[in-house]
Amino acid sequence: MTSTASGTDRSLPEALEAISPVRRVPADADTTAGEHDTTMETIVELCKRRGIIFPSSEIYGGLRGAWDYGPLGAALRDNVRAAWKRHTIQLRDDVVQLESSILMSPRVWEASGHVEGFTDPVVECRSCNARYRADQMDTNAAGEEYCPKCGGKEFSEPREFNLMFRTFVGPTQDTSTQVWLRPETAQGMFVDFAHVQLTSRQKVPFGIAQVGKSFRNEVTPRNFIFRVRELEQMEMEFFVRPGTDEAWHDYWITTRWNWYMRLGMRPENLRVRDHATDELSHYSKATVDVEYRFPFAWSELEGIANRGDFDLRQHAEHSGKQLSYFDPDLDERYLPYVVEPALGVDRCALAFLVDAYRAEDAPTAAGKVERRTVLRLHHALAPVKVAVLPLSRNDKLVPAAREVGGLLRPRWATQYDDAGSIGKRYRRQDEVGTPFCVTVDFQTVEDDRAVTVRDRDSMAQERVGIDRLPAYLAERLDL
Ligand code: GAP
Repeated sequence: MTSTASGTDRSLPEALEAISPVRRVPADADTTAGEHDTTMETIVELCKRRGIIFPSSEIYGGLRGAWDYGPLGAALRDNVRAAWKRHTIQLRDDVVQLESSILMSPRVWEASGHVEGFTDPVVECRSCNARYRADQMDTNAAGEEYCPKCGGKEFSEPREFNLMFRTFVGPTQDTSTQVWLRPETAQGMFVDFAHVQLTSRQKVPFGIAQVGKSFRNEVTPRNFIFRVRELEQMEMEFFVRPGTDEAWHDYWITTRWNWYMRLGMRPENLRVRDHATDELSHYSKATVDVEYRFPFAWSELEGIANRGDFDLRQHAEHSGKQLSYFDPDLDERYLPYVVEPALGVDRCALAFLVDAYRAEDAPTAAGKVERRTVLRLHHALAPVKVAVLPLSRNDKLVPAAREVGGLLRPRWATQYDDAGSIGKRYRRQDEVGTPFCVTVDFQTVEDDRAVTVRDRDSMAQERVGIDRLPAYLAERLDL
């Protein structure tokens, strides 16, 4: 906490050190990605082949902008969410959690400005009527905008297209029953602000956080799970005393930067870009994008906005309800300002997958060199923490390996695999980022009741007694 002449001032953020220097770049920074360890095609192929992420309803040809997460992908998502919740909620005493509903009163979206302004400019190809986002048109070698479907170069004037999905509640379908699928989770935190503040007895400054699905009818979903129509967000609204908002904005930029660093993201692939004034959302006083160097370009990973009192003021006016806060320390009532870090689970999972991907030469047991693919995911994010591998499907080895699996499974996500050569199984686990492989061999059952533990990154192998195995792994797993 910050010390002042009058003691500890809770309204200002505590001094915070960045794990590595936060790289700030101006609004017009170059977005070219440059040389990359991988391509989007490689990541998409790996995800499909290993059942991590693949197109939704694929047997019917799929649905653009919708993706399914298989067993490993679902575990990766769980881990991304858990890491975010742990650092944003669990390890703090000034942030509480909320799960508000996806369907809300349509008046919420009128007050928030989404009905009026949550739009993208759309143009229509004059030859084939295909529609595109006007600010994301493909260009040919001569720099001319063209239609990727028919090659046409004539387009209509841009028209604003609202990105919210609409549906109806109840058995009649007219304007009186129309509601929207929420395009952001944030509004739940604003409309529930007074209730949550009162019942959780939090004092400003404090935050309300939630993780949940949002929906955006994106004109051009693209780049795999980077831009999807059904997304999941992790958002936090941090309510502060007006005048302290800029200090809190800086604090959250460093806090969020540190989160990525703690999870092993390569600092050279991350930067913080200030929004230009004409780029700011209608609600924002100041915004930065945390950008990741995706293979296609430096692009937004997370937004951290200073929303001022825009949202609480709008909802107070539209609902006629009191949403101001009585500050007992100041003996004064005010509308808190809000700092909002907002991140998508899907986009975050993609950034961690890209960041972790390596194709490298590795020595084999036979003394040769082989190419291996390895996901150097932080242990906390790895879908499987330990793989248990009997050397062969031998009658003695299988039950022993099952026993070892049973010992580890209550503590960590464990996978049993007895198919193929041991080398192939190591490669399979490397490719999905499993930090440790435990091999059960004949010596285990006939002699020492010990197993071979192999480390994903160093590929070093160590013999460890089964009794000591849980403690051995607990010491090494960085969760
Ligand atoms: N409440 C503020 C808000 O929603 P945003 O910048 O529109 O701000 C926040 O979204 C984050 O949600 C983005 O930084 C991104 O990570 C994720 N996101 C937004 N639209 C997305 C989409 N169509 N597909 C995947 N992720 C998306």
